Amino acid sequence: MIAIDREHQLIRLDTPHTTYVLGLLDGKYLTHLYYGAKLGAGDLSALFFDPDAAPVPSACPREKAGFLDAAPFEYGTSGIGDFREPALVVRSADGQEGCELFYQSARVIPGKPKLVGLPASFGDQSEVSTLEVDLVDPVLDLAVTLQYSVFDDVDVITRSARITNQGKAPVELLRCLSFSLDLPAGDYDMITLQGAWAREHEIERRPVGFGGMEAGSIRGIPGHDANPFFFLADRGTNERQGSVCGFVLVYSGNFLAKVQRTQFGSIRAVLGIHPARFTWHLAPGETFQAPEALLSWSGTGIGTLSRTYHDLIRRHLIRSKYVFEKRPVLVNNWEATYFDFDEEKLLAIAAAAKKAGIEMLVTDDGWFGTHRDTDSGCLGDWLANQKKFPEGFPAFVEKLHKMGLLAGLWFEPESISKASELYEKYPDWCLKISGRTPTLCRDQWIADLSNPACEAYLTGAILDLVRRSKIDYIKWDMNRPLADLGSAALPPERQGEIAHRHVLAVYRMQERLLAEFPDLLLENCAGGGSRFDAGMLYYSPQIWCSDDMDPAERLKIQEGTELVYPVSTMGAHVGASPYGITSRVSDFDTRAKCAMMGTFGYELDLTKLSEEDFSKIPAQVATYRKLQELEETGDYYRIASYRENGWLDAVEIAAKDGKEAFVLAVQVLTQPNEKSTRLYLQGLRPNARYEVEGRIFPGDILMQAGYPLAHKIHDLDARIIRIREVEA
Ligand code: DGJ
Repeated sequence: MIAIDREHQLIRLDTPHTTYVLGLLDGKYLTHLYYGAKLGAGDLSALFFDPDAAPVPSACPREKAGFLDAAPFEYGTSGIGDFREPALVVRSADGQEGCELFYQSARVIPGKPKLVGLPASFGDQSEVSTLEVDLVDPVLDLAVTLQYSVFDDVDVITRSARITNQGKAPVELLRCLSFSLDLPAGDYDMITLQGAWAREHEIERRPVGFGGMEAGSIRGIPGHDANPFFFLADRGTNERQGSVCGFVLVYSGNFLAKVQRTQFGSIRAVLGIHPARFTWHLAPGETFQAPEALLSWSGTGIGTLSRTYHDLIRRHLIRSKYVFEKRPVLVNNWEATYFDFDEEKLLAIAAAAKKAGIEMLVTDDGWFGTHRDTDSGCLGDWLANQKKFPEGFPAFVEKLHKMGLLAGLWFEPESISKASELYEKYPDWCLKISGRTPTLCRDQWIADLSNPACEAYLTGAILDLVRRSKIDYIKWDMNRPLADLGSAALPPERQGEIAHRHVLAVYRMQERLLAEFPDLLLENCAGGGSRFDAGMLYYSPQIWCSDDMDPAERLKIQEGTELVYPVSTMGAHVGASPYGITSRVSDFDTRAKCAMMGTFGYELDLTKLSEEDFSKIPAQVATYRKLQELEETGDYYRIASYRENGWLDAVEIAAKDGKEAFVLAVQVLTQPNEKSTRLYLQGLRPNARYEVEGRIFPGDILMQAGYPLAHKIHDLDARIIRIREVEA
C-alpha cells in the first residue's frame, strides 16, 4: 500500500508488517522519516519533529551546509555540503562535481514496471504497487526518478533510481547507487558474508563504529569473498529476537555495501554498483538505470528476515517454471573424471545413474574444442571434441535421452582461451588495456562483451548447440574475475562502463537463451559460489554453491548462503570420500543428507562406488523427493549452528501450514560426556500432535521444551528427522 499525503507532505509505504515514510522538508528536500514496525493509520506529521535537526535553509540560509550534512536525505548527493557517503556523484561537462536534488512530483503506479535491461522482482497489480518520485537538479538539468515497489504479501520494499540527462551537454555519472538510507542513531552490527574459493559465504558480524564500514567487490563479479547484500542489526538482535534491516542487491557485478556512522551517531547506509571502476557517460537525452535493491525489516530477529527474502525470491524474483517444480536429480562428471573422459566413459556413468534412479547426466568442462584436456585452452570454441564425441554432441544427447536420462552441458561463455581458434581469429575480442598484455587467470582472458559482435557470436554458439542437441540443462560457469578493463569497441569516454556493460551483456545472453528455450533448466556457477546473487536467480532457479562438498565445510557454506537465498536455490552434490580438498573421510549417507538441503545431485564416479554405497542411492533419491516440496515452499529455521557451537548443526524446514516439518541434524564433532541437547523447533502448531521418530509430541512441547536429541558417538553423524502432524 502506498499513500501520498499531499497536505502533510508525507508519503507512506506499507507492507504487511512494516511502514516506510518519506517527507518533504522545507517544501523541496525529499527526506527519510521512518522504516520499521507498521505504524497505525493516524497522522504521521510528528515524524518531522527532531529537536536536534539543523535549521532548514529557508529559515536560516547561513547554515545551509549544516543542514545538508545532517538532514536524512532519501538519495544523498555530493559536492555542495553533504559530506556523508553519497548515492549519486555527477561530473558536469566542465569537469565540476556538484549535485543538489529538489522534489518535483510523485505518483503511484499499480503493479511494477520492468527495469530496462536489468533483472528485478516482479508481481501483478494485486501483489505490488509502485511509487515514483521525480527529483531534479536544475543546474545540471538532470532528472532523478526514485522507484519504490511495495509488496502486499511479503515485507519487502524495493528501491532503485533512474537518471536522465535532460540538458544539452553530456555528464559523467561517477557513482550511481541503488539507494541511500539515513537511519537514526543507535548501536548497529553489520552482517555480511566473506570467504574464499571453496570456503564461500562465511557469516561475519561487525559492530558499526564511527566512520565507514563496507563490503564490496571490484572483481566484475561479486567474488568468493563477498556477496551483494548486508544486514544491519540492532546490537542485541539474534536469530529469534530483535530488529534488523536487510538490503539485497539484484545485481551480479561490482558492488559497494557501506554503512557510515556519522558525527551525530546517525547511520547512512548505501548499496549499489561499486563506484570504483565505474563511470557512465550520459549523453543528452540518455537514461541510466541503477539496479534494484530489496529492503526488508524484521522486529523478530534475523530468522524472520531470512524467511522474508526466501519468500520474495521464490515468489517474486525467480522466473523459471522450475521454481516450485521437481528438479531432476543429476550426476555431474566434473569431480568424477575432470578432463579425462570420452563418450564411452560418460555412457558408463549414465548407465549406472539410470540404474540408481538418477535422472540427468551433466557433462562438465572438457567436452569442446580440439584440446580441452586441461584448463589451458579452447574456451570460445564451442563445438564438441571429435575424439571424445566421435558422432558429435547431438548424437550423445540422443543416446542419453533413449536411456531415459536428461542431458546437461557446461559452458563458460564469458571467457576466451589464448590457445583457441576464436582468439586466433578475433584477437580483439578480449578485454585489453592498450599497450599491455592482459592478465591471465586460469590461462584465460575475458571476452569483450561490450563488443556487440563478440556477444552475438558467443550467444549464437550456445543457441546453436542447444537447438541441435536438445539439451535439457545448462551449467553456465565463470571462472575468473574481470581485469584489464579496456575495450577496442568503445570510445575513450565509455571505457569506464566496461564492467557494468559486461554484466548487462550476461543478462541479455541468458535472457535470449531462456526466451528461445523456456523449458531449459539453467544453473549458474562461478568457480563455485562466486556469483551467487539475486540477479542471477532471476535467470536460473539454482546456482552452484561451492566447489567444496566436504559435509563439515558445506554446512557452514550453506548456513551463510541461506541467510538470504532459499535452500532450493543452492546446487548441492554428494562428493567422494576422502574428499579431495580437505582429505576428510565421511559416510556416504551423511554426505547425501547434507546435500539434500539444496538442489540435490551426485558428483563422483558412480562406476567406482562400492556396491554397498551404490545400493543406497535409490533410497537417498526417494528421501530427497519427499523433502523437495517442503524445501521449495516451506519456511527455513536455523536451530543450531556448528559454526557457532563447534559441534552440532541443525536446520529445520516447516510447511507454511505447520502440519509437517523436517530437521537435518548433523553432529559434526562428537563430544565426550555430552550435555543433553534439545532442538527448539519452530513453525509448528502449538495445539497439534506430531509424530517424531516413532513418538508423539505436542507442538508446543517441541517448540517450547524442545526435542531431545539422542547422542551418537561418531563424528559427522547426520540425521533427517521428520515431524508429521497426527490425528488427535
Ligand atoms: C568451476 C565449477 O565450480 C566446477 O563445478 C567445474 O564446473 C569447473 N569450474 C570446471 O572448469
